[in-house]
Amino acid sequence: MKLSSTGIAIAALCAVAGAQNLTGRWTARIAGDGLTREMVLALDVDASGHVAGYLQTPQSEDRIVDGRASGSVFWFIGERDAGPPQRIYGGEAQGEKLQLFAAGNRAQKTEFARVSADRPQPLPPPPPKVSLAAPPPVAPNGLAQTPPMGWNSWNKFQRKVDDQVVREIADAMVKDGMRDAGYLYVNIDDTWEGARDASGVLLPNAKFPDMRALADYVHRKGLRLGIYSSPGPKTCAGYEGSYQHEAQDAKTWAEWGIDYLKYDWCSAARVYAPDQATMQAAYAKMGTALLASGRSIVYSLCQYGMLDVGEWGAKVGGNLWRTTDDIGDRWVSMQNIGFNLQSGREKYAGPGHWNDPDMLEIGNGGMSDTEYRTHMSLWSLLAAPLLAGNDLRDVTPGILEILTNKEVIAVDQDPLGKQGTRVSRQGDAEVWARPLADGGYAVGLFNRGAAEAKVTAQWSDIGISGAHAVRDLWAHAGRGAVSGAYSATVPSHGVVMLKIAK
Ligand code: GLA
Repeated sequence: MKLSSTGIAIAALCAVAGAQNLTGRWTARIAGDGLTREMVLALDVDASGHVAGYLQTPQSEDRIVDGRASGSVFWFIGERDAGPPQRIYGGEAQGEKLQLFAAGNRAQKTEFARVSADRPQPLPPPPPKVSLAAPPPVAPNGLAQTPPMGWNSWNKFQRKVDDQVVREIADAMVKDGMRDAGYLYVNIDDTWEGARDASGVLLPNAKFPDMRALADYVHRKGLRLGIYSSPGPKTCAGYEGSYQHEAQDAKTWAEWGIDYLKYDWCSAARVYAPDQATMQAAYAKMGTALLASGRSIVYSLCQYGMLDVGEWGAKVGGNLWRTTDDIGDRWVSMQNIGFNLQSGREKYAGPGHWNDPDMLEIGNGGMSDTEYRTHMSLWSLLAAPLLAGNDLRDVTPGILEILTNKEVIAVDQDPLGKQGTRVSRQGDAEVWARPLADGGYAVGLFNRGAAEAKVTAQWSDIGISGAHAVRDLWAHAGRGAVSGAYSATVPSHGVVMLKIAK
C-alpha cells in the first residue's frame, strides 16, 4: 500500500507525538533494607526526537548529553562530573511506566513511574569542587604485616548482605577451617548504612539491628569484623558516606568493635577536585581519624588505582589499596587484572602496605576450578590480600581445598612481603616468581592459552643456578632436586605452582 502525503505526515506526527510522551519527570523507588531511596529521570524530548534531561541516583547525577527517542523507545548518553565519564542508557515507556537499563546490563531494568508530564528544568551547574593541600604523612598503624585475609560480602551478596548472613558466614568460617587457614576478617561491604541521627551519628539500616552485638559475636568466634564507607557523601551503591563526618564515623566504628575499613572513593569524585593532593588529603583525613579512634583498624583504600596510589597509599595510612576497577567472576576479568595490570606495582608492596588486585571470586561459579586455582596462585604470588568472596555456607569441598591450600597461603603470607613478578613470557606461557623469606622462591607456571601446553621455568630467569629441591604446591608432592629448569604440562588456563628451595 502506498501512503498519501497526508498519511505520511500523520504517521510522522504520531511518531513525534509518541516520542513527546516521554517528556516529564519519572521516579523509581529502591526499597528493601528499611530505607527508601529515589532515582529521578527527567526527560525532555523535542519534536525531532532529540532527548535532553538528566538522571539522578542517590550517588550520582548523569546529564544527558545526547539521545534519541522514537515512539516509546529511547536511548541517551549520560555524562557525570565525576567517575566514569559517560554511560549509555536505553529504555522503553509503556503508558505511565518506563523501564530503564544501562548498556551492557539489559538484564537489570529499573522501573520508573511518571510523576509529571511537565518539561523538566535543566540541572543547575555542579557546585565547585573542594581542593585540598597534600597532607603530612599519617603514622603507620603497624597492622597487616602480611596481606590481610578474610571474607567480604560484595562479590556474592551485593545488597543482600545482612546480620544473619554475616553471622552464618562467621560460623561457617570456623566450621570449615577457613579461620584456621588464616582467614580472619569478616568484612561487610556496601549497603549496611542507615541514616544519621540528630547529632550526626551514622546508624546501620534495618538489615543490621545491632552492630556492636554482631561484632561481639564475630569476635567470640576468634574472627574480626570489617566495614565499608566512602570519603564522599554517598557510597557507590548510594548509601550514606563519611564526607564531613570522618572522625565521628571512625569513633562510631571503634565503639562497635570494627577491625577493618574499606574506604571507597565513589561519590567523593563529586565533591573533591580530581588531583592527587586532594585525594591524598581526603584519604589521610580518615587515616588520621582511624588512628585517633583508639582501636586497631586495618585501612583499605578503594579508588581503583587512580593517580598513582602506590606512590602515596601508605603515606595516608593505608594498609592496602585497590589497583584496578572491580573484578568479575569471569576468566577475562580475573586474568586481565592479575596478569596484565599488576606488573610494575611490586615496588609499592611490603609489610604493612599492599597492592590489592580486588577480592577473590573463587567459588562463585563463573570460572572452572582450574581457573580458580590460577586465581589463588596468582594472587598469592602477588602478595595480594586474600578476601574470599563466595558463600562459605555451602562451599564445595573442591573450592574449600583451593581456598585453604596451606602451602599456597604460606606463599601469600610470606613474611619477607616481596610481591612476585613475571620473569618470562612465551606466547600464552608465563612464569611468575616471588622471593621468600627462607631464601627460596615461589614460582607459578601459567598457561593462559586455550590448549594444554608445556611451560618451562628457567633458573636463570628466576636468578638462581645449580640444583634446588622442587615441590609442587597443588600436588603436595616433592619433585626432587632439579638443575637448570623445570618444565610441566599445564592445562588451559591452569597453573603448576612450585616452591623452589634455597
Ligand atoms: C565499588 C567497589 C566494589 C564494591 C562496590 C560497593 O564498585 O569497587 O568493590 O565495594 O563499590 O558498592
